[in-house]
Amino acid sequence: MPDRRAFLKFLAGSPLLAGLLPFRDALMQQTAESVISSPAEAINVFEFEVAARKALPPAHFGYMATGVDSDATLKANREGFSHYDLRPRRLVDVSRIDLSTELFGVKWESPIVISPVGSQKAFHPEGEIAVAKAAQAKRTLQILSTVATSSVEDVTSARGGPIWYQLYTTNKWEGTQKMVKRAEAAGCPVLVFTVDLPAGRNTETQELFRRNDTRQCSNCHSAAPGATYRRKPMFDGIDATSIALASPALTWEFVRRLKDLTSMKLVLKGIETHEDAALCLENGVDGIIVSNHGGRAEESGRATIDCLPEVVKAVDGRIPVLVDGGFRRGTDIFKALAMGARAICIGRPYIWGLSAFGQPGVERVLDILRRELDLVMRQCGTRSLREISPAFIADSWRRG
Ligand SMILES: Cc1cc2nc3c(=O)[nH]c(=O)nc-3n(C[C@H](O)[C@H](O)[C@H](O)COP(=O)(O)O)c2cc1C
Repeated sequence: MPDRRAFLKFLAGSPLLAGLLPFRDALMQQTAESVISSPAEAINVFEFEVAARKALPPAHFGYMATGVDSDATLKANREGFSHYDLRPRRLVDVSRIDLSTELFGVKWESPIVISPVGSQKAFHPEGEIAVAKAAQAKRTLQILSTVATSSVEDVTSARGGPIWYQLYTTNKWEGTQKMVKRAEAAGCPVLVFTVDLPAGRNTETQELFRRNDTRQCSNCHSAAPGATYRRKPMFDGIDATSIALASPALTWEFVRRLKDLTSMKLVLKGIETHEDAALCLENGVDGIIVSNHGGRAEESGRATIDCLPEVVKAVDGRIPVLVDGGFRRGTDIFKALAMGARAICIGRPYIWGLSAFGQPGVERVLDILRRELDLVMRQCGTRSLREISPAFIADSWRRG
């Protein structure tokens, strides 16, 4: 036994292994010291993660925190930002700053968008409704998930204005059709079709956290076929027993079919290569979200910020390119804007805020990120998003 302990100690101290330690181990080791007790106390968005960990049952925290396999892509999304340095310019009058951006003819005060995240009542009793109210208070664009725990009608009403609707297809066209028409009728101007989960996924970290949860999951979650979806309002009136969200047979033909079905703008979420960006253009797609599902799709190992330049280049300004994955700092956002993103989306950070404090938590996360972006824009001598160009990024990425 002492030998084993000594060996483990040796392993933990090994610098080689330290770099390879899975992200989940770092999470497991997080202590509850210095947990904020109100949103106002937070000095950065990371503090909400610790507070969410304390607030949530382990299984629910694990569902949110997980990547796939060894969480390498999840980690890469964060590390990717360190591949790029800033080139600030001096002596520019930055007393007035404009953070606004434009998406499909609508002007938004800031380029920070709320990514679709499923099952938000697993994080807070008010779930998507609390997020919608925060989005309204902070005049922020919200994208609602197909597997939301509130309906598109209720969230639109709580938001007090249109939201974008994210689509997972069902394995029956009639189900997809119903859902798309419902989003359209609720006033959604944009349909975000997520294309990065054709074949399921291996969410090991989620399983590890679930194993550590002493509660009876079966009290709330039934294992019956379709039970998960029957509880989700967007599946009302759709045969839930035949639903399979991972649709292995989907091709670009389906994208054209969707385009013909709806008058909403069609954005594809989950594009990572210039080849697929070119196919988006060929198939009439109106916008792209460069995304790897927050490291929850395939274990590509590649950060979305590293994917962004090739997509932007292929698109060449013809349609808006957004990006998500690992955005936690104003400087992260600035880098993506400099590389040509029209806006960036956040997933986990607002879920941390929601989990710990409900609507005020989400509001504070949005405030912090906006404040940090404002600060780095001034520090770099850029007064509007138009002025944030590739020239503000150090040469290293352009050589690559
Ligand atoms: C708990 C959780 C649930 C998610 N659910 C969905 C979903 O229903 N639909 C979808 O397109 N993306 C979903 N995503 C991915 C997010 O939209 C987004 O791509 C990702 O969270 C961005 O990375 P970040 O969390 O590092 O900000 C989910 C992400 C998380 C963390």
